[in-house]
Amino acid sequence: MPIIYNEQEKTITLHTQNTSYQMKVGPCDLLLHTYYGPRAQGDMSWCLSFRDRGFSGNPYDAKLLRGISADTLPMEYPCEGSGDFRAPAFSVRRANGAVGCDLRYVSHEIKPGKYALDGLPTVYADGEEAETLEVTLADEAAGVRVLLQYGVFPALDVITRAARIENCGEGSVLLQAAASASLDFVSGDWDVMHFYGRHAGERAVGRAPIEQRELLIGSRRGTSSHQQSPFVILADRETTELHGRCVGMSLLYSGSFSCNASRDQFGTTRAVMGIQSEHFDYPLEPGEVFQAPELALVYSGEGLARLSQRFHRMVSQHVCRGPWKNRRRPVLLNNWEATGMDFTGERILNIAKTAAELGVEMLVLDDGWFGARNDDNAGLGDWTVNTEKLGCTMGELADKIRGMGMKFGLWIEPEMVNEDSDRYREHPDWALCIPGKAPVMGRNQLVLDFSRPEVVDAIFEQIAQVLDECRADYVKMDMNRSITDVYSAVWPDQSQGKILYQYVLGVYRFMEMLLERYPNLLLEGCSGGGGRFDAGMLYYCPQIWCSDNTDAIDRVRIQYGTSFGFPLRTMGAHVSAVPNGDTRRKTPFHTRAVVAMAGTFGYELDLNLISDEEKKQVPAQIEAFKKYWNLLHNGLFYRLTDVMQNRQEAAWMMVEEDGSEALVNIVVLDSTGNNPNRFVRCMGLTPGASYKDEESGMVYDANALMAQGLPMPMVQYPRWPVKVTPNEYDAFQIHLVRI
Ligand code: GLA
Repeated sequence: MPIIYNEQEKTITLHTQNTSYQMKVGPCDLLLHTYYGPRAQGDMSWCLSFRDRGFSGNPYDAKLLRGISADTLPMEYPCEGSGDFRAPAFSVRRANGAVGCDLRYVSHEIKPGKYALDGLPTVYADGEEAETLEVTLADEAAGVRVLLQYGVFPALDVITRAARIENCGEGSVLLQAAASASLDFVSGDWDVMHFYGRHAGERAVGRAPIEQRELLIGSRRGTSSHQQSPFVILADRETTELHGRCVGMSLLYSGSFSCNASRDQFGTTRAVMGIQSEHFDYPLEPGEVFQAPELALVYSGEGLARLSQRFHRMVSQHVCRGPWKNRRRPVLLNNWEATGMDFTGERILNIAKTAAELGVEMLVLDDGWFGARNDDNAGLGDWTVNTEKLGCTMGELADKIRGMGMKFGLWIEPEMVNEDSDRYREHPDWALCIPGKAPVMGRNQLVLDFSRPEVVDAIFEQIAQVLDECRADYVKMDMNRSITDVYSAVWPDQSQGKILYQYVLGVYRFMEMLLERYPNLLLEGCSGGGGRFDAGMLYYCPQIWCSDNTDAIDRVRIQYGTSFGFPLRTMGAHVSAVPNGDTRRKTPFHTRAVVAMAGTFGYELDLNLISDEEKKQVPAQIEAFKKYWNLLHNGLFYRLTDVMQNRQEAAWMMVEEDGSEALVNIVVLDSTGNNPNRFVRCMGLTPGASYKDEESGMVYDANALMAQGLPMPMVQYPRWPVKVTPNEYDAFQIHLVRI
């Protein structure tokens, strides 16, 4: 039984295979949080300290028991107005304008299976893989009831949380904050690890101590954003890749979010995570409900690698859906970096022909095929094929490409409109815009009001006609600006605070319609690269274009940061031309392939324009990907170097779950003359076993590889008489097989 209620102790304990989580109905029916950590038994309320503390108030019904305070006890779902002055998960403005309520435990229910959320992504389970706990808290006088939802996945070591708020009163209430979850840890020195960046530089790893001040991570951009990821880790100050405790929080939501991490005056660390409460004023009329998105939690007592591996399994097997979930993805070629919007049908076919000859399996036609889209100032919103540019219909182009033995895919950006488009000229009110205010432009485009079902439906219908015509095997769904001017022409003024949330639901509905109409479609997410790379999106698309930056060396860092929360198989990664368009850096063709294989693997260049020597490498690269993909996409992933600190080399490896084989990947980031001997310490091999390097025949002891390390391979350069240590940007893949 993963969920156990102990009537006497009034504890509810959630057990996964290796972890436990506990809450307790405390005095005055306050719902207290007593534990989250390695699997443990019994009533943990010995961790609670009931001390009378100055300036920490008490519930009225505690009477003279001044040790009872929501300000000092670890709270399961802290609310503003209860006397808890720390960051709240929940805040409500009552009909009379007063802010605050006092949520108390009412009841709970344990149910088989995993709860689902209407219109929102969730970690899903088949039948008995999960159990659900629902706890009702209420403040009847304030007119609010909160249903705390918990999903327990024993085999995955995952616990999910969400919250459903209902107006159970007679007047309207205004939700001002409704986080998905809050976690209080009564002990420990914690850091928060967060994943920050910018367009073309996503998910660098930041690590900051949590102290007695609030540390805010989040996005106000209407999307999960390039700048911060809705995935954070609380890590013990000593925690490393293989040691120490850490807790990951992954929000299944693709809009504005926040995570507030702080330490209180008595040493309890709190992290509150969920939808961003700025720009969120959500009125609820009597009987109406608001559903907060889901947050997935993983605890690891064995360092960050185990934490990531648990998230990887969760995302791969219980978030991603559809026929592509566990299949090797086709090796694709996308024309964007080869042509931009300056192409003809003939040029595309020419690119496709060589690609097909070299073994590429799918051609993706990117931006520029529709309306008057010849640069990025016009055309968005007009999803009609530019047959003049293509010299044929989309159906004919797709047929020709299929005739070459390849699949065919198409780029779309449904949420956007250019002022210079027929769509905008016909329906200017479909764009988000504040009356009387000139909108902020982004890439010279406006955001369509996806909080309106009729807008979503109209765009869908037009795009679907094209997809029907060309029977697209794949769609890349892009989103290329942040959201501003949040005002919808159809929503009443007092409901404008709902728009951003409703917008995200509209995007999810659009994707769900795509998947329903095209059950075999491979959908790739994108937002100027990885601006909407989150677990919510991955419920609809099993892969997301990881970054617009395809420079192999920058990508090593971007994919490193992404790997903390997301498996390699979700990261769109392609080999592109050099010098790189973003960085002007030149890296070897082989290195670009090694880095792209730590992702979905494909090409983003015109293969007609590479050297004959490189052309010869393409079939070999594709063959290597086919050979290793199972290991790359399903193996246990280990980061062997900290790419944020180690500027010498980046290394990562995948190990088959039973330890029978492994693939070590090394990219040389920097080199110096007469440089010291370098070694890469392996992880996750079977202790005591021996492994053979498939290529060199060399046999290594696993313990030694994990302690002393694998020597950096030596390289034979053409004009050198002996093998030397590699050059800057060289890369290696070492396939180790247990013997
Ligand atoms: C975004 C994407 C790119 C490409 C362009 C097209 O920037 O991330 O891959 O599709 O849009 O405009």
